[in-house]
This record gives sequence, C-alpha cells and structure tokens, in this order.
Amino acid sequence: MLLKGKTAFITGGGRGIGRGIALAFAQQGCNVAVAARTEMEVRETAQLVEAEGRKTLAIRCDVADPKSVNAAIEVTLATFGQIDILVNNAGYAHFRPFHELSAEEWNRTLDVNLTGPFLCIQAVLPSMMARRSGRIINISSVAGLKPLLHQSAYCASKHGLNGLSKVLALELREYGVSVHSICPGGVDTQLARDAMPERDKSEWMTPEDIAHACLYLATLSPRATTDEIVVRRFGSAPS
Ligand SMILES: NC(=O)c1ccc[n+]([C@@H]2O[C@H](COP(=O)([O-])OP(=O)(O)OC[C@H]3O[C@@H](n4cnc5c(N)ncnc54)[C@H](OP(=O)(O)O)[C@@H]3O)[C@@H](O)[C@H]2O)c1
Repeated sequence: MLLKGKTAFITGGGRGIGRGIALAFAQQGCNVAVAARTEMEVRETAQLVEAEGRKTLAIRCDVADPKSVNAAIEVTLATFGQIDILVNNAGYAHFRPFHELSAEEWNRTLDVNLTGPFLCIQAVLPSMMARRSGRIINISSVAGLKPLLHQSAYCASKHGLNGLSKVLALELREYGVSVHSICPGGVDTQLARDAMPERDKSEWMTPEDIAHACLYLATLSPRATTDEIVVRRFGSAPS
C-alpha cells in the first residue's frame, strides 16, 4: 500500500480520468474526497472508493466558484484532518475556430481549467504550508505544450496551467510542497467524445493509463521530483 493513511482531494472525480485516479489511489490505501458538480457521479466514485475499504467524501463542487471550492476544502479538512494530495483534474473543452469562439466559451474554459486550479491550490495551501508537506498534481494536456487547431481557448488554459505549475514548483519547495503536471494526449472520456465526436477513439488511452502516471507522482521519494509527465497515445508523435 503505497498511499496508506494519506488523503487526496480530486476535482472532476465523478467520471473519466478523475475517477480512474480516485480508484488507483484508493487501491493503494488512500482516502479520497471526490469533487465535481454532478452529485450522482461523485457518489458513484465514492462508492467505488469505499468498496476498496477506504474512507471517502462525495462533494458537489464547482471549481470555478470560490465559495464552492472553499466549502469543499473545509469539509475535507474537517473530516480527514489533512489533505496530502490535491489533484486538479476538473476540465472543460469546447473546440471551434478562433473567429467563431464566443467570450463566454473563452471565459468558461479559462474559469474551469485555470482559475479552478488557482482557487483549489489557494484553498488547500495554508494547511499544506502549516504541515510543511503536500503534493499538488495538475492534470494538464499535450494542448499545454503545443498548438492544436481550433483549440485556442483550451490550449491557452493548459499552457497557463503548465506555467502555473512550474512557478509553484519553484515557489513552494521551501514549504515542503511539491507541484507536478501531467500532460495527456487523447483519452477516451466524455470530454473527448463531446469535444471531438468525429474522431475514432478505438486506440485512444483509458483513464487508467493516466491514473498510472498520477500514482507515480503521488508516490515519489521526497528526495526526487518530476515536474511534468507527458503521456501520449502510442500511435501519436512526440510533442
Ligand atoms: N480526455 C482527453 O483526451 C484529455 C486529454 C488531455 C487532458 N485531459 C484533461 O483531463 C481532465 C479530465 O478530463 P476527462 O477527459 O476525464 O473528462 P470527463 O470524463 O468529462 O471528466 C471531467 C470531470 O470534470 C468535472 N468538471 C467539469 N467542470 C467542472 C467544474 N466546473 N467544477 C467541478 N468539476 C467539473 C466533470 O464533472 P461535472 O461535469 O459533473 O462537474 C467530470 O467529473 C481535464 O482537465 C481534461 O482537460 C483530457
């Protein structure tokens, strides 16, 4: 059990990659607070975590809303006493040519993918700094490393998240807090199916593939760190 006695707070844990990470962590002894907007889905993930014999919390939370984020972190700290690992996984994608992109879609993408992690990190950080211990794992994308056609808002949000991750890795090390990012390529999830309905996903990755990388980061030795992991489809080209 690599994460025995630890507690993780996972945003977007109701389905897809977030659920995969919740399960992989639970299988290694980690208690998991699962946060997303759809109550039924967070409950389902929480039941799966419980079935692994771990403690869990199913929390309705909108990462773009500061009040909602603060309340979610508060109840998690009150329940478990600490958050060892924050996984910023909640995400939104809506792809279209830039000249057709509305300010509303731009704002929503940035609010969920970049401001969401900002709010969650700010909410959890005081407790991590006080304990001089903690890990923050941001689920970014290969869209944070290179330009992808018709993905201007999404690419901007994920490039921003990678920038934030690197500055915080530098800034928070003196407080014993490590910051990492994972940049996945195509994973067959609801988000990908909605954003790219025309693409054949038969050879795309599964949430478990990304959970595997997340578990690696969550269990790194305190002497070593890995800033960024790119996990791409075997059939794709390097970034
Ligand atoms: N799938 C891919 O190909 C791929 C590739 C690279 C990176 N990623 C990244 O991986 C992460 C997870 O995506 P996924 O592919 O697993 O998609 P998914 O299956 O659609 O899951 C997205 C999760 O985020 C939650 N979420 C969305 N907006 C939220 C909000 N405002 N507040 C709280 N939770 C919110 C969703 O729940 P609710 O809607 O109920 O809130 C859901 O639980 C995202 O950051 C995405 O950008 C995905």
